[in-house]
Amino acid sequence: MAAGTGDRFEGKQGLVLGVANKRSIAWGIAKRLADEGAQLAFTFQGERIEKNVRELADSISSPLVTECDVRSDEDVARVFSQVADAFGGGLDVVVHSVAFAAAEDLEGRFTDTPRDRFWLALDVSAYSLVSCARAAEPLMEARGGGSIVTMTYLGGERAVPHYNVMGVAKSALDASVRYLAWDLGQKNIRVNAISAGPVRTLAARSIAGFTTMEALVEERAPLHRHIDADDVGAAAAYLLSDEARNLTATTLYVDSGYHAMGM
Ligand SMILES: NC(=O)c1ccc[n+]([C@@H]2O[C@H](COP(=O)([O-])OP(=O)(O)OC[C@H]3O[C@@H](n4cnc5c(N)ncnc54)[C@H](O)[C@@H]3O)[C@@H](O)[C@H]2O)c1
Repeated sequence: MAAGTGDRFEGKQGLVLGVANKRSIAWGIAKRLADEGAQLAFTFQGERIEKNVRELADSISSPLVTECDVRSDEDVARVFSQVADAFGGGLDVVVHSVAFAAAEDLEGRFTDTPRDRFWLALDVSAYSLVSCARAAEPLMEARGGGSIVTMTYLGGERAVPHYNVMGVAKSALDASVRYLAWDLGQKNIRVNAISAGPVRTLAARSIAGFTTMEALVEERAPLHRHIDADDVGAAAAYLLSDEARNLTATTLYVDSGYHAMGM
């Protein structure tokens, strides 16, 4: 257990989707949950990053690392069945930290987004939360409840130049959080989002103007500083823990306060 952390996840088991490398926000969250006692399964997308994810997962003695392309219903069904086998039929926590838009749609004009790439961004970045929540539902019900956290961004609420179709996807993701929270609340399953400020990750690098986004946070956020994946890890651990038992359908902003500013 790392200094300053607790043991809120002793005996808890979770699934983490979205680790690509050690800079991934999902890894910042996973490290924190593991430090506090969680046992975690991981998914990866594509052979290119499999080795990275296996090495990271091994470092925290993960019992399951498996491929999942969230565009595939078969992959999602197989993953949750493997999770059920690995965790004795139950699951406490899901970390959904997955998004994708074609690089050409993160520059230029949103107006020019073609139909197929619009749906691709929404499929991977928003619908995947719905399909994962549905697959997690019986496993979490078996534990008497559970907690799901996804990653969003201010670009789903305001127009952020260059964020474009990903902003529309985040807006759909934010609404999905609310509707999932309503449905699953009956089963004591909570669904929340974290809206993070800019963090230098693989996905962030494909956004044209990312450096400007970072510079603006430093200049205009109340705390005038950047956040990192460990900050998100701490916030996610709170939302995923029993301490947040009466929080659902919310967005927690980990952005040095930037979202509150009008200028
Ligand atoms: N980095 C930031 O500044 C920032 C800010 C706010 C929100 N977010 C969000 O955080 C989440 C994680 O992104 P990150 O910044 O850690 O980058 P990342 O590149 O490390 O993670 C994105 C993950 O999505 C996965 N992915 C993409 N397409 C997939 C598919 N079809 N099936 C399964 N997985 C797929 C990738 O493999 C990768 O692991 C995303 O939802 C992102 O929008 C990031």
